[in-house]
Amino acid sequence: MSMRTLITGTGHFVPPRVVTNFDLEKVMNTSDEWIRQRSGIVERRHVEEGVMTSDLAYEAALRAIESARIDRSEIDFIIAATLSPDHYFPGIGVIVQAKLGLVPIGALDVRNQCSGFIYALSVADQYIRTGVYKKILLVAAEVQSTNLDYSDEGREMAVLFGDGGGAVILEPHDSTDGRGILSTHLFADGRHVPDLWLEKPSPKDKPTVTEELVKAKKFFPRMDGRNVFKNATEKMPKAVRIALEHNGLTVDDIALLIPHQANDRISQMVAHNLKIPLEKVMRNIDRYGNTTAASIPIALDEAVKEDRIKPGDIIVLTAFGSGYTWASAVLRW
Ligand code: ACO
Repeated sequence: MSMRTLITGTGHFVPPRVVTNFDLEKVMNTSDEWIRQRSGIVERRHVEEGVMTSDLAYEAALRAIESARIDRSEIDFIIAATLSPDHYFPGIGVIVQAKLGLVPIGALDVRNQCSGFIYALSVADQYIRTGVYKKILLVAAEVQSTNLDYSDEGREMAVLFGDGGGAVILEPHDSTDGRGILSTHLFADGRHVPDLWLEKPSPKDKPTVTEELVKAKKFFPRMDGRNVFKNATEKMPKAVRIALEHNGLTVDDIALLIPHQANDRISQMVAHNLKIPLEKVMRNIDRYGNTTAASIPIALDEAVKEDRIKPGDIIVLTAFGSGYTWASAVLRW
């Protein structure tokens, strides 16, 4: 009997402060109409001062643990994905571990930005199927609102991103009923690093932080929006097709497609390219903006709570982001 990895619990947490497009109009030169038309975003959440990524991750983790109906002491490994860790080092995995009182289990940080959740899922899947770990907490969280350029130069990005966290619990499952993670496919093209990145701080500079670099706004994330759009809308459908073919499935078999919530125009293009009806595509970017690594587990948890997923359903995840990296995963729920 072969073992598969099953998601046995999901949870998410977003900070309570809602920031609408109209709120952004007050602090920067933008409009609700521009933001909605280009991204589908209506509002996003921003943390209160002092709240960090590990705080959101911890809250999301608690909810996933409760949903899996396990005691937190049963967790034997943690994987955390974020591009906005509390500190340059260490990552947030160890901080979440300590907050949960789970010393001394291992805690791994995955740094694959918007693809971080699927990359981390693939790592967890290998550990579970090989019997190394029995209950893995995979948590993804971001606090992005505190480091965006709200001037004209950065507004293209500042309107897109939000804060939040999502988590899942992964356990081994005897796969006679066919349930579990069927596949993960990971891709990257490191030639596109400067097309979507946070260039500084970098050890290239000594000292790492200088007034010139701050003035040049090198500590804010930047993207080549058109290039991101073009690549995201090409690469995600391709990754989904490869995954379906690998499993002998077709687009018609998909009960729900959960794309990384990068931008609703991108999600719509992905759906159009795959010829999958929009009713079968999870879209919640209107309420949360782009929460990078956290977007898929947040959307997954909402889909579960909204009863959009039932046991036996084929669920496909796909993501694209900085690196560039992109990925897909097929699950039988
Ligand atoms: N509010 C108002 N105007 C803005 C804003 C804003 N927030 N941001 C940019 N603009 C202005 C620009 O300055 C530019 O003005 P100009 O023409 O006077 O120079 C104009 O709007 C550009 O608008 P468009 O003509 O629609 O530009 P374009 O067709 O190049 O589209 C866009 C730009 C919307 C960013 C597009 O490239 C896009 O959707 N890219 C996808 C990016 C994305 O969603 N990334 C997701 C995050 S990364 C990830 O998760 C993978």
